[in-house]
Amino acid sequence: MIVLGIESSCDETAVALVKDGTEVLSSIVSSQIAVHAPYGGVIPEIAAREHLNAIQPLFKQAVREAGVAPSDIDLIATTQGPGLVGALLVGSTFAKGLGISLGVPVLPVDHVHAHVHGALLGLPDHITDVKDLFPALSLVVSGGHTNLYWMESPVHFRLLAATVDDACGECFDKVARMWSLPYPGGPVIEKMAKNGKPGRFKMPKMVAQKDKMIFSYSGLKTHLAYLWEREGPFVRSDLDDLAYAFQEEAFGQIVRKIQSGFGLLNQKPRSLLVAGGVAANKRFREMLTFQFPEINHYFPALTYCADNAAMIAGLGWYEFQKLKEDGKPVPTEDSWDVYSRYRYELVAGP
Ligand code: KG4
Ligand code: ZN
Repeated sequence: MIVLGIESSCDETAVALVKDGTEVLSSIVSSQIAVHAPYGGVIPEIAAREHLNAIQPLFKQAVREAGVAPSDIDLIATTQGPGLVGALLVGSTFAKGLGISLGVPVLPVDHVHAHVHGALLGLPDHITDVKDLFPALSLVVSGGHTNLYWMESPVHFRLLAATVDDACGECFDKVARMWSLPYPGGPVIEKMAKNGKPGRFKMPKMVAQKDKMIFSYSGLKTHLAYLWEREGPFVRSDLDDLAYAFQEEAFGQIVRKIQSGFGLLNQKPRSLLVAGGVAANKRFREMLTFQFPEINHYFPALTYCADNAAMIAGLGWYEFQKLKEDGKPVPTEDSWDVYSRYRYELVAGP
């Protein structure tokens, strides 16, 4: 079954064709980073207009690169949210129009959940059935979210912890901005941290209480701002050392909450799926692999860490299978629920 995935929630327009949930036939991403860079952040109005320019040519290119005809598409999965409304409208309206013209169903997909499917694309050959990876713990660590989930299947998401203020990637971006470094901050800070000396700066431990299942990043950012005020300005080598200390705590917090998560659950996960833009960070991967050697880790290929449409098509396929299994119809476009799916409930929250 060939699924067309469409993503336009923020500053990347993406179109992909994926067969049976995990086999990527084509995946194209057009990034707007350069367009927004002079403003130091994403401008929603510009984002929507850029999506409008990009979506039609990207669709044609994706179909061409996959070597299929539009009539081979069996299902369209499109990001319904969360995201910028003007940006989302471009992708979902394109998907709905195409769905009508091709006579295929259009499935709305949750962007944050879809990130986890980035880690399920292109799995090693010895994994013949994705269901064998479950139950799993999964992490979506991006510019907008820091979510830890318990998953009993590829479509089951139980939120165990989320951030109460900034997201992890957002904190990297804000710290980079404070230090006059370019956006996005994550890759730049990772590079600096590699040159940093351990032990020179101490960071406060965020949410140190073991039983508190939340993430918090704004305190870390404020600590760095006060440090700059008290001891700055810093030269490049100081910043490298600070970047090291900051990065260790930014990820240390996640490691601690996974450990707490283990204590809360009465079942051991078979795997840890790690996704989102921050999953591209090598030190993050290293820390998780080192700290949890007893479970298998799955990280997305670098192209599937950041926003892409292959992950949307991936989750779309599994959701479609589940609807079929349960004998339920695909929700029609006039019954899409654009609000309630984003009222996340913290199952083990404060
Ligand atoms: O998943 P993503 O592309 O977009 C969202 O849905 O938010 O994630 C972007 C975020 C940015 O905050 C960026 O700074 C961060 O991921 N990021 C990184 C790295 N590469 C991207 N953070 C830390 N280390 C990296 N190597
Ligand atoms: Zn994303």
